[in-house]
Amino acid sequence: MNEKDFIFSKDIKLDGIVKWTAPSNIAIVKYWGKLENQIPQNPSISLTLNESITTTSLSLKPKSNNNSNLKFEFEGETNIAFEDKTRAFFKKIDKYFPFILNHDIEIKSKNNFPHSSGIASSASSMAALSACLVDFEKMNNSEMSDDFFWKKASFISRIGSGSASRSTCGPVVIWGESEAYENSNDLYAVNISNQTHEIFKDFNDTILIIDPGQKKISSTEGHKLMNKNPFSNQRYDIARKNVIDLKNILKSGDLDGFISIAESEALMIHSLMLTSNPSYILMKPNTLKVISKITEYRSESKLPICFTLDAGSNVHLLYPNNIKDKISDFINNELIKYCSSNKYIEDKVGSGPEKIN
Ligand code: PMV
Repeated sequence: MNEKDFIFSKDIKLDGIVKWTAPSNIAIVKYWGKLENQIPQNPSISLTLNESITTTSLSLKPKSNNNSNLKFEFEGETNIAFEDKTRAFFKKIDKYFPFILNHDIEIKSKNNFPHSSGIASSASSMAALSACLVDFEKMNNSEMSDDFFWKKASFISRIGSGSASRSTCGPVVIWGESEAYENSNDLYAVNISNQTHEIFKDFNDTILIIDPGQKKISSTEGHKLMNKNPFSNQRYDIARKNVIDLKNILKSGDLDGFISIAESEALMIHSLMLTSNPSYILMKPNTLKVISKITEYRSESKLPICFTLDAGSNVHLLYPNNIKDKISDFINNELIKYCSSNKYIEDKVGSGPEKIN
């Protein structure tokens, strides 16, 4: 499929409301560096989460006048910053949904993860909004297949935020072209759960909240700095190879292989931040303390746990479900003291967006 296949050109009148939830996701092989229009420099593989979700309702009515036609309410209050962001997003996608231009639009959105937890919500929020938009299109296109629905939802999410393309299915997803996976491509994400061992299908991700503050450098700026990072080309090659290696690891349930790739990917994207110009550090002292506690505990207990990081200071602790009780004790005894206000989120893998009736 190419971009043109996602253009919906019918001029339609809509009056109604739809509501979807969508989860966040955590990358194992990271997307860090991009070309124009959110085309990734390398393929990435992620686990879709289950508990960290955004719920969004979208209501459309034929436009009543020529004024701005968008209202955005976040957690019960008008949010001008989100309204502006959404207006900019709609400008990029109105050729795929021309009804955006001639309707009054009201969006109400909320996250179920705590305020100020430092958890980025762009993946879950873009995926939920995109599912709502494609749902409206589907009402006027009875022939739309489920397969097309989810490809378009992922394609549109990608335009909002690259990693959001991976929040439209689950639990294991690839986005970006790789020789390892036949249908993988740069435009939308593909579910690879059917090529994944059962052990990864009930994996846990406990998100340890190290610093709830806003990060100093956004991921948009971080991606941009990759364009002149001296290690960027090596990075893209390593990421491509990690995707190929991860394929066999995911298929066979090789937890040691998984741990090795997950941790080296996390440290590598942070090393790219250290070597950018200007350089920056998003990890905090407690990020490093938690990482060293996790690796120490793994060598002593021989239990298959590991960490990963996204572009921030919080630590994602990943482990299979059959050791959950032991890991809960470890978290409460050893890790919680490094978390901001003892905060952590117990998440696990999930299967993607759901419609709320
Ligand atoms: O989707 P963005 O532009 O917020 O970039 C996300 C980048 C990472 O979270 C660091 C890695 C990833 O693949 O999710």
